[in-house]
Amino acid sequence: MSGSGEPVFKGKVRGGPLPVETHGGAKWLLVASGKGGSGKTSTSLNMAVYAVHDGLRVVVVDLDRQATLTRWYQRRPDEAPSVALWAGPMADASKAVIEIDALDTADLVVVDTPPGLDDHPEATRLLVGRADFILVPTTQGTADIDSVVEWMKFLRREKAHASFLMNKVQRSHIRYRNAKLRLNRAGPLCPVDVRLLDDIEATHDHGVGACEIRRSRGAEDFGAVWEYVKQQMLIGSAVAEGAAA
Ligand SMILES: Nc1ncnc2c1ncn2[C@@H]1O[C@H](COP(=O)(O)OP(=O)(O)OP(=O)(O)O)[C@@H](O)[C@H]1O
Ligand SMILES: [Mg+2]
Repeated sequence: MSGSGEPVFKGKVRGGPLPVETHGGAKWLLVASGKGGSGKTSTSLNMAVYAVHDGLRVVVVDLDRQATLTRWYQRRPDEAPSVALWAGPMADASKAVIEIDALDTADLVVVDTPPGLDDHPEATRLLVGRADFILVPTTQGTADIDSVVEWMKFLRREKAHASFLMNKVQRSHIRYRNAKLRLNRAGPLCPVDVRLLDDIEATHDHGVGACEIRRSRGAEDFGAVWEYVKQQMLIGSAVAEGAAA
Protein backbone atom coordinates (compact mmCIF):
# COMPACT_ATOMS: atom_id res chain seq x y z
CA MET A 1 0.00 0.00 0.00
CA SER A 2 1.27 3.47 -0.75
CA GLY A 3 2.08 5.83 2.10
CA SER A 4 1.38 4.25 5.42
CA GLY A 5 2.09 0.53 5.25
CA GLU A 6 -0.96 -0.39 7.35
CA PRO A 7 -4.47 0.66 6.42
CA VAL A 8 -6.06 2.59 9.23
CA PHE A 9 -9.73 3.27 9.41
CA LYS A 10 -10.00 7.04 9.32
CA GLY A 11 -13.57 7.59 10.37
CA LYS A 12 -15.62 10.29 8.74
CA VAL A 13 -13.96 11.92 5.75
CA ARG A 14 -16.39 14.65 4.90
CA GLY A 15 -18.24 17.50 6.53
CA GLY A 16 -21.78 16.57 7.42
CA PRO A 17 -24.56 14.46 6.02
CA LEU A 18 -25.94 15.62 2.73
CA PRO A 19 -29.41 17.00 2.47
CA VAL A 20 -30.79 13.96 0.73
CA GLU A 21 -34.07 13.97 -1.08
CA THR A 22 -34.98 10.46 -2.09
CA HIS A 23 -38.37 11.35 -3.56
CA GLY A 24 -39.85 8.16 -2.20
CA GLY A 25 -37.35 5.63 -3.45
CA ALA A 26 -33.72 4.65 -3.61
CA LYS A 27 -31.47 5.61 -6.49
CA TRP A 28 -29.95 2.56 -8.15
CA LEU A 29 -26.35 2.60 -9.37
CA LEU A 30 -25.51 -0.39 -11.54
CA VAL A 31 -21.85 -1.31 -12.02
CA ALA A 32 -21.62 -3.59 -15.01
CA SER A 33 -19.37 -4.54 -17.88
CA GLY A 34 -19.14 -7.95 -19.45
CA LYS A 35 -15.41 -8.27 -18.84
CA GLY A 36 -13.92 -9.99 -15.85
CA GLY A 37 -11.42 -8.17 -13.68
CA SER A 38 -12.18 -4.67 -14.98
CA GLY A 39 -12.89 -3.29 -11.51
CA LYS A 40 -16.64 -3.74 -11.07
CA THR A 41 -16.38 -4.86 -7.45
CA SER A 42 -13.71 -2.30 -6.54
CA THR A 43 -15.84 0.46 -8.04
CA SER A 44 -19.00 -0.80 -6.31
CA LEU A 45 -17.47 -0.98 -2.86
CA ASN A 46 -15.78 2.37 -3.18
CA MET A 47 -18.94 4.15 -4.37
CA ALA A 48 -20.82 2.57 -1.46
CA VAL A 49 -18.24 3.75 1.08
CA TYR A 50 -18.15 7.29 -0.28
CA ALA A 51 -21.93 7.36 -0.16
CA VAL A 52 -22.17 6.27 3.50
CA HIS A 53 -19.59 8.90 4.42
CA ASP A 54 -21.84 11.41 2.69
CA GLY A 55 -24.65 10.39 5.03
CA LEU A 56 -26.60 8.17 2.64
CA ARG A 57 -28.18 4.88 3.62
CA VAL A 58 -26.58 2.37 1.29
CA VAL A 59 -27.35 -1.18 0.23
CA VAL A 60 -24.77 -3.09 -1.79
CA VAL A 61 -26.09 -5.90 -3.93
CA ASP A 62 -23.76 -8.77 -4.79
CA LEU A 63 -25.11 -10.73 -7.75
CA ASP A 64 -21.85 -12.51 -8.49
CA ARG A 65 -21.41 -16.13 -7.41
CA GLN A 66 -17.71 -15.37 -6.82
CA ALA A 67 -19.01 -13.36 -3.82
CA THR A 68 -16.06 -10.94 -3.87
CA LEU A 69 -18.22 -8.09 -2.58
CA THR A 70 -19.72 -10.29 0.12
CA ARG A 71 -16.25 -11.23 1.36
CA TRP A 72 -15.30 -7.54 1.43
CA TYR A 73 -18.46 -6.83 3.40
CA GLN A 74 -17.61 -9.56 5.92
CA ARG A 75 -14.20 -7.97 6.51
CA ARG A 76 -15.63 -4.52 7.12
CA PRO A 77 -14.42 -3.20 10.50
CA ASP A 78 -17.06 -2.78 13.22
CA GLU A 79 -16.21 0.88 13.64
CA ALA A 80 -16.72 1.68 9.96
CA PRO A 81 -20.03 3.25 8.93
CA SER A 82 -22.25 0.39 7.97
CA VAL A 83 -23.67 -0.54 4.62
CA ALA A 84 -26.30 -3.23 4.15
CA LEU A 85 -25.74 -6.26 1.91
CA TRP A 86 -28.15 -8.13 -0.34
CA ALA A 87 -26.53 -11.18 -1.96
CA GLY A 88 -27.87 -13.74 -4.42
CA PRO A 89 -27.41 -15.13 -7.92
CA MET A 90 -28.09 -13.05 -11.06
CA ALA A 91 -31.23 -15.11 -11.59
CA ASP A 92 -32.62 -13.45 -8.43
CA ALA A 93 -32.06 -9.89 -9.68
CA SER A 94 -35.80 -9.19 -9.82
CA LYS A 95 -36.15 -10.42 -6.23
CA ALA A 96 -33.44 -7.95 -5.16
CA VAL A 97 -35.22 -5.06 -6.87
CA ILE A 98 -38.63 -5.95 -5.44
CA GLU A 99 -37.38 -6.58 -1.89
CA ILE A 100 -35.12 -3.54 -1.63
CA ASP A 101 -37.66 -1.17 -3.19
CA ALA A 102 -40.41 -2.54 -0.93
CA LEU A 103 -38.33 -1.97 2.22
CA ASP A 104 -37.76 1.66 1.20
CA THR A 105 -34.95 2.09 3.74
CA ALA A 106 -32.11 2.93 1.33
CA ASP A 107 -31.09 6.13 -0.37
CA LEU A 108 -28.62 4.45 -2.70
CA VAL A 109 -28.40 0.87 -3.96
CA VAL A 110 -25.11 -0.15 -5.57
CA VAL A 111 -25.33 -3.30 -7.67
CA ASP A 112 -22.20 -5.33 -8.42
CA THR A 113 -22.64 -7.74 -11.31
CA PRO A 114 -20.75 -10.82 -12.50
CA PRO A 115 -18.73 -11.00 -15.71
CA GLY A 116 -20.44 -12.65 -18.67
CA LEU A 117 -23.73 -10.76 -18.66
CA ASP A 118 -24.68 -12.44 -21.96
CA ASP A 119 -25.56 -15.51 -19.89
CA HIS A 120 -28.24 -13.54 -18.05
CA PRO A 121 -30.16 -11.49 -20.64
CA GLU A 122 -33.39 -11.15 -18.66
CA ALA A 123 -31.79 -10.15 -15.38
CA THR A 124 -29.49 -7.77 -17.20
CA ARG A 125 -32.36 -6.03 -18.97
CA LEU A 126 -34.27 -5.72 -15.72
CA LEU A 127 -31.33 -4.16 -13.86
CA VAL A 128 -30.59 -1.79 -16.73
CA GLY A 129 -34.23 -0.72 -16.69
CA ARG A 130 -34.22 -0.06 -12.92
CA ALA A 131 -30.85 1.72 -12.82
CA ASP A 132 -30.75 5.48 -12.47
CA PHE A 133 -27.16 5.40 -13.64
CA ILE A 134 -24.74 2.75 -14.90
CA LEU A 135 -20.97 2.79 -14.55
CA VAL A 136 -19.11 0.63 -17.05
CA PRO A 137 -15.59 0.02 -15.74
CA THR A 138 -12.89 -1.00 -18.18
CA THR A 139 -9.14 -1.30 -18.24
CA GLN A 140 -7.17 0.29 -21.06
CA GLY A 141 -6.56 -3.13 -22.67
CA THR A 142 -7.78 -3.55 -26.24
CA ALA A 143 -9.91 -6.64 -25.55
CA ASP A 144 -11.65 -4.88 -22.66
CA ILE A 145 -12.34 -1.81 -24.79
CA ASP A 146 -13.74 -3.98 -27.62
CA SER A 147 -16.09 -5.63 -25.15
CA VAL A 148 -17.38 -2.50 -23.40
CA VAL A 149 -17.90 -0.64 -26.67
CA GLU A 150 -20.34 -3.39 -27.68
CA TRP A 151 -21.96 -3.29 -24.23
CA MET A 152 -22.44 0.48 -24.52
CA LYS A 153 -24.21 -0.01 -27.87
CA PHE A 154 -26.72 -2.22 -26.06
CA LEU A 155 -27.11 0.30 -23.23
CA ARG A 156 -27.76 3.11 -25.69
CA ARG A 157 -30.38 1.04 -27.50
CA GLU A 158 -32.02 0.54 -24.10
CA LYS A 159 -31.85 4.33 -23.58
CA ALA A 160 -29.92 3.75 -20.37
CA HIS A 161 -28.02 6.53 -18.62
CA ALA A 162 -24.48 5.13 -18.57
CA SER A 163 -20.82 6.15 -18.66
CA PHE A 164 -17.55 4.32 -19.13
CA LEU A 165 -15.06 4.46 -16.28
CA MET A 166 -11.41 3.80 -17.05
CA ASN A 167 -9.85 1.78 -14.23
CA LYS A 168 -6.36 0.43 -13.53
CA VAL A 169 -4.99 3.07 -15.88
CA GLN A 170 -1.33 3.67 -16.54
CA ARG A 171 -1.34 7.13 -17.99
CA SER A 172 2.15 6.99 -19.47
CA HIS A 173 1.20 4.12 -21.78
CA ILE A 174 0.30 4.90 -25.40
CA ARG A 175 -2.58 2.45 -24.93
CA TYR A 176 -4.11 4.81 -22.35
CA ARG A 177 -4.62 7.60 -24.86
CA ASN A 178 -5.89 5.27 -27.59
CA ALA A 179 -8.34 3.66 -25.19
CA LYS A 180 -9.63 7.04 -24.09
CA LEU A 181 -10.14 8.17 -27.67
CA ARG A 182 -12.05 4.99 -28.56
CA LEU A 183 -14.27 5.17 -25.48
CA ASN A 184 -14.97 8.84 -26.02
CA ARG A 185 -16.25 8.06 -29.52
CA ALA A 186 -18.42 5.20 -28.28
CA GLY A 187 -20.33 6.89 -25.45
CA PRO A 188 -20.12 9.09 -22.35
CA LEU A 189 -16.84 8.73 -20.47
CA CYS A 190 -16.32 9.63 -16.82
CA PRO A 191 -13.86 12.54 -17.03
CA VAL A 192 -11.73 11.20 -14.19
CA ASP A 193 -10.11 7.79 -14.22
CA VAL A 194 -8.73 5.46 -11.59
CA ARG A 195 -5.04 4.62 -11.58
CA LEU A 196 -3.56 1.17 -11.05
CA LEU A 197 -2.69 1.53 -7.36
CA ASP A 198 -1.79 -0.92 -4.61
CA ASP A 199 -4.05 0.75 -2.09
CA ILE A 200 -7.10 0.04 -4.24
CA GLU A 201 -6.18 -3.62 -4.13
CA ALA A 202 -5.93 -3.26 -0.33
CA THR A 203 -9.55 -2.14 0.04
CA HIS A 204 -10.57 -5.77 -0.58
CA ASP A 205 -8.20 -7.09 2.09
CA HIS A 206 -9.57 -4.89 4.86
CA GLY A 207 -13.24 -4.31 4.09
CA VAL A 208 -12.74 -0.60 3.58
CA GLY A 209 -12.99 2.02 0.87
CA ALA A 210 -9.96 3.91 -0.40
CA CYS A 211 -11.01 6.98 1.60
CA GLU A 212 -10.73 4.92 4.79
CA ILE A 213 -7.05 4.17 4.22
CA ARG A 214 -4.64 6.76 5.53
CA ARG A 215 -2.90 8.73 2.78
CA SER A 216 -4.42 6.57 0.07
CA ARG A 217 -3.85 7.83 -3.46
CA GLY A 218 -6.83 5.78 -4.52
CA ALA A 219 -9.00 8.01 -2.33
CA GLU A 220 -8.38 10.93 -4.64
CA ASP A 221 -9.31 8.92 -7.73
CA PHE A 222 -12.47 7.28 -6.41
CA GLY A 223 -13.46 10.52 -4.61
CA ALA A 224 -13.52 12.27 -7.97
CA VAL A 225 -15.51 9.41 -9.52
CA TRP A 226 -18.04 9.67 -6.67
CA GLU A 227 -18.45 13.42 -7.32
CA TYR A 228 -19.20 12.59 -10.96
CA VAL A 229 -21.67 9.86 -9.98
CA LYS A 230 -23.49 12.26 -7.64
CA GLN A 231 -23.85 14.78 -10.44
CA GLN A 232 -25.14 12.11 -12.81
CA MET A 233 -27.58 10.70 -10.26
CA LEU A 234 -28.78 14.07 -8.98
CA ILE A 235 -27.78 13.29 -5.41
CA GLY A 236 -27.35 15.86 -2.67
CA SER A 237 -25.19 18.95 -2.51
CA ALA A 238 -23.24 18.28 -5.71
CA VAL A 239 -26.49 19.00 -7.51
CA ALA A 240 -27.35 21.98 -5.34
CA GLU A 241 -23.90 23.47 -5.97
CA GLY A 242 -24.28 22.88 -9.70
CA ALA A 243 -27.66 24.56 -9.74
CA ALA A 244 -26.38 27.58 -7.77
CA ALA A 245 -23.41 28.11 -10.11
N1 LIG B 1 -7.42 0.63 -9.77
C1 LIG B 1 -6.90 -0.52 -9.33
N2 LIG B 1 -5.62 -0.60 -8.93
C2 LIG B 1 -5.09 -1.77 -8.48
N3 LIG B 1 -5.75 -2.93 -8.41
C3 LIG B 1 -7.06 -2.90 -8.81
C4 LIG B 1 -7.70 -1.72 -9.28
N4 LIG B 1 -8.98 -2.02 -9.60
C5 LIG B 1 -9.13 -3.32 -9.33
N5 LIG B 1 -7.98 -3.86 -8.87
C6 LIG B 1 -7.72 -5.27 -8.51
O1 LIG B 1 -7.94 -6.06 -9.68
C7 LIG B 1 -8.62 -7.26 -9.32
C8 LIG B 1 -9.98 -7.28 -10.05
O2 LIG B 1 -10.73 -6.18 -9.58
P1 LIG B 1 -12.29 -6.33 -9.24
O3 LIG B 1 -12.52 -7.54 -8.41
O4 LIG B 1 -12.76 -5.03 -8.73
O5 LIG B 1 -12.80 -6.58 -10.73
P2 LIG B 1 -14.18 -7.21 -11.20
O6 LIG B 1 -14.52 -6.56 -12.50
O7 LIG B 1 -15.19 -7.11 -10.13
O8 LIG B 1 -13.77 -8.73 -11.42
P3 LIG B 1 -14.78 -9.97 -11.68
O9 LIG B 1 -15.22 -9.81 -13.11
O10 LIG B 1 -13.92 -11.18 -11.46
O11 LIG B 1 -15.91 -9.83 -10.74
C9 LIG B 1 -8.75 -7.25 -7.81
O12 LIG B 1 -7.65 -7.94 -7.27
C10 LIG B 1 -8.69 -5.76 -7.45
O13 LIG B 1 -8.18 -5.55 -6.17
MG1 LIG C 1 -16.35 -8.61 -9.22
